[in-house]
Amino acid sequence: MDGNGRWAKKRLMPRISGHRRGLESVKTVITQCQKLNIPFLTLFAFSTENWLRPTQEVDFLMSLFQDSIKKESSSLIKNNIRFKLIGDRKPFPKKLIDKIKDLENLTEKNTGLTLSIAINYGGRWDIVNAVNEYRKKNHFKKPFTQKNLIQNLSLSFAPDPDLLIRTGGEKRISNFLIWQFSYTELYFTETLWPDFNEKAFTSALIEFQKRERRYGKTSEQI
Ligand code: FPP
Repeated sequence: MDGNGRWAKKRLMPRISGHRRGLESVKTVITQCQKLNIPFLTLFAFSTENWLRPTQEVDFLMSLFQDSIKKESSSLIKNNIRFKLIGDRKPFPKKLIDKIKDLENLTEKNTGLTLSIAINYGGRWDIVNAVNEYRKKNHFKKPFTQKNLIQNLSLSFAPDPDLLIRTGGEKRISNFLIWQFSYTELYFTETLWPDFNEKAFTSALIEFQKRERRYGKTSEQI
């Protein structure tokens, strides 16, 4: 969800106003996914590297996440959304960890959209963490397999993403779901995240529909 800072700067506003406006785009995209019966939406909200930003911005983002979880809980439940948080929770205050766990438990049985928010997430962290999670339960008696890894990644409850949308003009993966993106279609747009509306989302989906997904096979085989 890139471009919040630039969106604000263009309007001579502080970067945090961009993040606040970005939250509106988050709501728009969730609504669109529900309308279109898209079963999984995973949003990259804060990376393991984002701690390096100015303290004021980091603090603002953390309170925005916390407030959103509090304010939107009932709406998530009402809308049959299954909520997940992926990322390293260790540095979060215990109160927040408990709140996240409560919301995950409360929405676990929901059958609509699975909404995963990546906070303090890094693809490299996820892979090493999965190996350690496996190690806690097993002792590498048998050869370690891809299945062993997949079952311990933080997105183990979801299929690999079909489509990655990156806004704000950057054409990188930036340590997001590096394992899961092996066959994901990549879509990059100059649109800044706060401007990413229903029309922009539809354009991304139309572009995705035109892609031929061969998974290593030839055109004739699929
Ligand atoms: C990247 O844009 C955006 C972020 C680091 C924060 C994303 C947060 C939100 C969209 C707010 C709400 C989200 C949830 C899930 C409650 P940037 O700051 O790097 O912008 P720039 O590229 O223009 O500098």
